[in-house]
Amino acid sequence: MIQTPEALTVRPMSHADIASVRSIDRLSFALPWPESSYRYELSGNDISHLLVAEVEGPGGSEIAGYIGFWLIVDEAHISTLAVHPDWRGRGIGRVLLRYGLSRAVECGAQLATLEVRASNHAAIELYREFGFAVVGRRPRYYRDNDEDALLMTLDDLHDLAGAAEGTAR
Ligand SMILES: CC(C)(COP(=O)(O)OP(=O)(O)OC[C@H]1O[C@@H](n2cnc3c(N)ncnc32)[C@H](O)[C@@H]1OP(=O)(O)O)[C@@H](O)C(=O)NCCC(=O)NCCS
Repeated sequence: MIQTPEALTVRPMSHADIASVRSIDRLSFALPWPESSYRYELSGNDISHLLVAEVEGPGGSEIAGYIGFWLIVDEAHISTLAVHPDWRGRGIGRVLLRYGLSRAVECGAQLATLEVRASNHAAIELYREFGFAVVGRRPRYYRDNDEDALLMTLDDLHDLAGAAEGTAR
């Protein structure tokens, strides 16, 4: 059985994390955010919340993944979520989503929304596990390949089911 790393900490992202986060971003997305976006999200965008997952790797502490959301009145819009390829499949994405949504609730969010590539089965499965449902489709939303986005929502964040508890497998 593969387990979530025991020494896993989720904490707010800082400017010092940007280089590590960007290297995961480049490995994870066809359209990664530029450094300026992270700088703006961290210090210029009041509605933005970014968290990182830190683990103990062979070379010491490292960033394994991150999540972001924008709080728009009572809606948390997941802006980004990625786990380093070396750390995928060990429950870290689930832990990040759980922490991100819990943080959103603390900030006053009642519901959560996100867009995901229609072909991104791993992410869609993860979101469904938390109770997100597909409520719409944005045709040709992604500029790199004109792929559609699915719009998913979790209508009541206070219903964060048992899914949120299962971190270790
Ligand atoms: C999506 C992503 C964040 C998942 O992170 P992860 O740490 O590997 O996911 P976890 O190990 O926590 O998996 C939790 C659940 O997600 C789903 N899941 C994760 N990887 C999956 C895969 N390759 N295929 C199908 N389902 C998958 C499963 O439901 C899994 O639970 P299970 O293993 O008990 O069945 C990761 O694959 C990633 O960074 N992808 C690239 C970036 C991305 O697509 N981000 C989402 C943008 S909307």
